[in-house]
Amino acid sequence: MNELQNRFESRGQGQVFQFFHELSSAEQEQLSAQAADIDLDELDRLVDSLVKGKVEGNDSIADELSPADFTPLPANGGDAALWTEAKETGEEALRAGRVAAFTVAGGQGTRLGYDGPKGTFPVTPVLKKTLFQVFAEKILAAGNHYGKSIPWFLMTSISNHEATVSFFRENNFFGLKEEDVSFFSQGLMPAVDSEGKILLDEKGSIALSPDGHGGSLRALVRSGAISKMEERGIDIVSYFQVDNPLVRCLDPEFIGFHILRNSELSSKALPKAYPEEKVGVFCEQNGQAVVVEYSDLPERLSQERDDAGELTFRGGSIAIHLFDRDFVKKLGSGDSEETRLPFHKANKKVPFVDTDGQRNEPAEPNACKFEMFVFDALPFAKNPVIIETGRADDFSPVKNAEGVDSPATSKDDQLRQFARWAVAAGIEIETDETGLPSITFEISPVFADTCERFVEKWQALNTKPPLTDGLVLS
Ligand code: UTP
Repeated sequence: MNELQNRFESRGQGQVFQFFHELSSAEQEQLSAQAADIDLDELDRLVDSLVKGKVEGNDSIADELSPADFTPLPANGGDAALWTEAKETGEEALRAGRVAAFTVAGGQGTRLGYDGPKGTFPVTPVLKKTLFQVFAEKILAAGNHYGKSIPWFLMTSISNHEATVSFFRENNFFGLKEEDVSFFSQGLMPAVDSEGKILLDEKGSIALSPDGHGGSLRALVRSGAISKMEERGIDIVSYFQVDNPLVRCLDPEFIGFHILRNSELSSKALPKAYPEEKVGVFCEQNGQAVVVEYSDLPERLSQERDDAGELTFRGGSIAIHLFDRDFVKKLGSGDSEETRLPFHKANKKVPFVDTDGQRNEPAEPNACKFEMFVFDALPFAKNPVIIETGRADDFSPVKNAEGVDSPATSKDDQLRQFARWAVAAGIEIETDETGLPSITFEISPVFADTCERFVEKWQALNTKPPLTDGLVLS
């Protein structure tokens, strides 16, 4: 038995190497490499606290929670002068090249049920551009506008890394400079059974899965992305998810608030549309800002309303954040207990090889997977900032194949945005009562990536094309 096998044996995880003698040398190498990457101290802690430990009921947190404050939009009573100051500050930072875009694209996209990296899913109304192309063009447009190219970091996972990188290559990085786009794969965690034993997916392979979007912080550090940013003078990381084509990837007002308040982590809050909406909620707990997952917020709190009839706990978290680079470095290095993101467990069906060497496809959840959530960084941050955003111009994710948050709803929300911009430019356009135009058309981010720039660009056109079905402004 070699040193690695001994280590696993002594920690009660010897089953990982049960079939080692049956494997080819290539398989033995693969299994050993997977095992060597597992932090057994970390795993022991997780098994003790999350698998064998007692998990408290949700209601115990209710008494400690109050809604977190957020800075309202000018349209909802916010200070317009402050928002203007924030915008100017953010624009200055973009001109100075202080900001990088960062997309987490390592998820498995199970709900959408699409075969391929989610970023390669087509979303725009006419050209069916992919999510990756939409973000690339927004980043390109912002870089052109501010006169400074903006680097883009993308986190993938082992199962979609190659396909993601190839997709960018085949599409010439959508007009971005290749050296401005960096990919890195996120970390993996082993799945364990109810006794905390690591499961084998095959005799020569451990059942591993991505460590959650919260794994992005340590992946940013381990991959060298943070050092790259440091070399380039970037100190602000603009974080967004791969599934939201409406996101303002580089929002000057948001960046400005982050800088003006010297924040380590800033977030956007979206007033929840209804109590059951499946987004986390910004709360305060023991004097600290936290995000409480929708499934953990006691029902009486999620339903509670204030005197004005508004939901009391209404600040929805839509996974749009700005991170201070050194804050990522501190948390991502995870050197001490005080600066380590917690793990959460999820009970899942995980196929496994049993002690007789038979592969099982369980019908019921049989295993625990461990994931970190990026919003758990919030209580660690100095001067956290939360600002309000509007749904129409920031959030319409593609999560499900049908129904809410699906390709159909997201396409309609993009059309509504294009129609609003057209109206702002004085174009006559027929819409229904929800603002959905009767024609299908598309404004490319390269033509204009904000309403303000659309109006300018449109007014400067010598010949204005008629707004007809299928029109693409690019
Ligand atoms: P979701 O929570 O929507 O998960 O991820 P998902 O895996 O994409 O989709 P489902 O739940 O299987 O349907 C939110 C964002 O976090 C990223 C996703 O790629 C998405 O941008 N993510 C999630 C990661 O990058 N890594 C992970 O381990 C999990």
